[in-house]
Amino acid sequence: MNVLILGGGGREHALAWKIAQSHHCNKLFVAPGNPGIAQVAIIVDMGTHDFEGIKSFCLLNKIDVLVVGPEEPLVNGIYDFMEKAKTIDGWRGFVVGPSKAAAQLEGSKAFSKKFMQRHDIPTAAYAEFTKDSFEAGKQYIQQHTLPIVLKADGLAAGKGVVISETHEDALQVFEQMLINRQFGEASTKVVIEEFLTGIEVSVFVLTNGVDYKIIGHAKDYKRIGEGDTGLNTGGMGCVTPVPFITEAFMQQVEEKIIAPTVKGLLAEGLVYNGFIFFGLMNEGGNAKVIEYNCRMGDPETEVVLPRLDTDLLSLFAAMDNGTLEDTNINFADGYFATVMAVSGGYPGNYKKNIPITGADKPLQVPGSLLFHAGTRQEGKAIVTNGGRVLAVTSKGESIGKAVQQSLDVLGTINFEGMYYRRDIGFEFS
Ligand code: AMP
Ligand code: GLY
Repeated sequence: MNVLILGGGGREHALAWKIAQSHHCNKLFVAPGNPGIAQVAIIVDMGTHDFEGIKSFCLLNKIDVLVVGPEEPLVNGIYDFMEKAKTIDGWRGFVVGPSKAAAQLEGSKAFSKKFMQRHDIPTAAYAEFTKDSFEAGKQYIQQHTLPIVLKADGLAAGKGVVISETHEDALQVFEQMLINRQFGEASTKVVIEEFLTGIEVSVFVLTNGVDYKIIGHAKDYKRIGEGDTGLNTGGMGCVTPVPFITEAFMQQVEEKIIAPTVKGLLAEGLVYNGFIFFGLMNEGGNAKVIEYNCRMGDPETEVVLPRLDTDLLSLFAAMDNGTLEDTNINFADGYFATVMAVSGGYPGNYKKNIPITGADKPLQVPGSLLFHAGTRQEGKAIVTNGGRVLAVTSKGESIGKAVQQSLDVLGTINFEGMYYRRDIGFEFS
């Protein structure tokens, strides 16, 4: 099979690394990719928003599988666009991702909350407001227990969720989002939600809209500072498997959350042929959905795929030909941990184009993998090109050992301002 992956971060590097190992893989392309991805795939100079370019490329290169890494092209309808390319242009491949309508599970928090209500899927209590119901929203906030969770309805690059500790702060955030349009279109609607307490975990599923398979789970460390302090980031590290994820917990997640979600999508005619990322809160053994994402997580992919001992391309093919139900999912033994190295200043302002030493070749350390997240080739040098720059994943017989090995590898890499958390997986070490 010829494969095109869209995206250019650590998630896409992990996807490319995994797919390149499949004996079903003929040619593997990634657009726009990055220098790390260039070690395992052919880089295509094309943006993920360039739907026409993507279509032409798929037709010309006889792409069989188009794997969409980030959410934006999915929310903007790449699936539907390429479905048209099948009927109009005779494209013979398929997209790994949901349709535009189904991608609303991530693209609109209000949509996903209503979907969960319709299908009795456990989630935090909520209400939604627009400019027209601003006054009612203010009253709702004033009577709400603390803390209060406020969410911009649409995509806001991971910045659209605010947890307020006081009513005054919540009112300010509410006005900022709704009236001052802090997130533009994305905050024309605001969801106000009950605060859930417990431990967060993410579960990853592949579905063709009828059948599904759980391909892994992970715990993500979102805060910039050690001890889970400071600002939220896209994710500073991840571990899998997570010790508190027992079989009983997973069974509950499957029965109360995953199965009803897939059934609900089917019942509502929401076409889905891709990954579902279930962001969950474990509230004393009870699982509730914090959010859906219509794609894999980053950096969750960097631990989930190394642990997955099943050919990903075979799984995609099984989704397409209706045999997903009959496939076996196997996991490697041991624990996997990824530690993300970020630019100094991230998640605030940071510099780009800083030369990186020690990351120009594939890593030669047994049990470790180096994934490029925000890097760029400049002549012979590799330079930083984003907030999150590199992810090092290692395998170990305990979480602590896996983390330590990733830290040892990061000790051999350097760029000015480089920062990483040394305490990923701290609760389990
Ligand atoms: P999201 O953008 O929906 O992933 O939310 C970002 C983060 O905010 C989540 O990973 C949680 O840590 C936190 N969060 C979101 N909703 C809630 C909630 N209802 N209760 C507690 N924490 C939440
Ligand atoms: N690491 C969180 C996400 O990918 O959304």
